[in-house]
Amino acid sequence: MRRVRYHAHGGPDVLVIEDADIPDPGPGQVLLRTEAIGVNYVDVQLRRETSADSIWFRPLPGTLTGDVVGTVEKAGPGADPALAGTRVAVLLEDACADYVVADTSWLVSVPGELGAGAASMVPTVGAVALGALRTGRLARGETVLVTAGAGAIGHVAVQLARRQGAGTVIATASAAKLGFLKELGADVVIDHTQPDWAAQVRAAAPAGTDLVLEAVGGEVLHQSVGLLAPFGRAVVFGASAGDLTSLPVTSLFGLKSAAGFSLLAWRAANTAQARLDLTELVGLFQAGDLRAVTTSLPLADVAEAHRLLEDRAVLGRLLLVP
Ligand SMILES: NC(=O)c1ccc[n+]([C@@H]2O[C@H](COP(=O)([O-])OP(=O)(O)OC[C@H]3O[C@@H](n4cnc5c(N)ncnc54)[C@H](OP(=O)(O)O)[C@@H]3O)[C@@H](O)[C@H]2O)c1
Repeated sequence: MRRVRYHAHGGPDVLVIEDADIPDPGPGQVLLRTEAIGVNYVDVQLRRETSADSIWFRPLPGTLTGDVVGTVEKAGPGADPALAGTRVAVLLEDACADYVVADTSWLVSVPGELGAGAASMVPTVGAVALGALRTGRLARGETVLVTAGAGAIGHVAVQLARRQGAGTVIATASAAKLGFLKELGADVVIDHTQPDWAAQVRAAAPAGTDLVLEAVGGEVLHQSVGLLAPFGRAVVFGASAGDLTSLPVTSLFGLKSAAGFSLLAWRAANTAQARLDLTELVGLFQAGDLRAVTTSLPLADVAEAHRLLEDRAVLGRLLLVP
């Protein structure tokens, strides 16, 4: 079988396809034959990072995370044998291969009629969007700002905010993606590459925003907190721009709060809700209440997939297909 590895940190070309034996599922694991793999932006940061002091540093050889949609080929010792033959989705640290092994604890069962793109949104993209909205306690009628709203998590967050009764959804992205944000249901769309993007948000929400879902980081996070109304909440779940240092505590003194969100922390601290969220997401995608927007490339083109991610050229989510 084929699998993806990198043996040096650097640009997309460090990604190589290797031959390997099909792995054996260990205790509590299953072997999956992959049907599609949803690619995560964080792997661009992990792949590039050379400083061992960075939170993004990973030892070599490196693997790519991803949301695998696949069929259970075999159950390992202690795993339920009835899982064999079922179609599931799961977030994995080593996701890009023809076959992968997965712990059964966070497998999501996905119906055969659900497209692979939609199924790939459930374990991480949808779960982060939904969990971040829950953490931010969105109330009906509130104004929400979603930065990087045209990305994988962003495009689901925009739709969910709309569905959950936000009064106004403001979403930012680079210029070519603004039409896409409108299609997703955003009321106000703003090009965040413009130096006055924050002033444009302020003009659209003069009283301030109630909630911001933020994963760009740096100056964008700082300015997003500046745009919050009194009692407004920022939920911070990433730092795609690579800057982790931008939020002076004084920026919160206007009765604002900032919460971090990590999917792994959410699963650990709020396990029952995290499981319910997965079931809810499957239902929403299956009913057509959430749209999954994907671009598919063959697994062999993984370096090209990372180039597109780095160039910020993807709408929604990139899928690799074996
Ligand atoms: N907390 C968690 O548990 C968790 C889990 C998964 C992912 N994440 C984080 O969530 C964020 C979104 O992940 P994703 O996979 O959905 O990525 P993505 O949104 O599909 O891709 C990142 C997007 O950020 C935008 N962006 C704005 N400024 C940027 C900059 N300076 N450099 C690069 N991109 C910039 C780009 O869109 P434009 O062209 O519109 O600017 C780009 O497409 C990432 O930071 C990721 O690490 C967190």
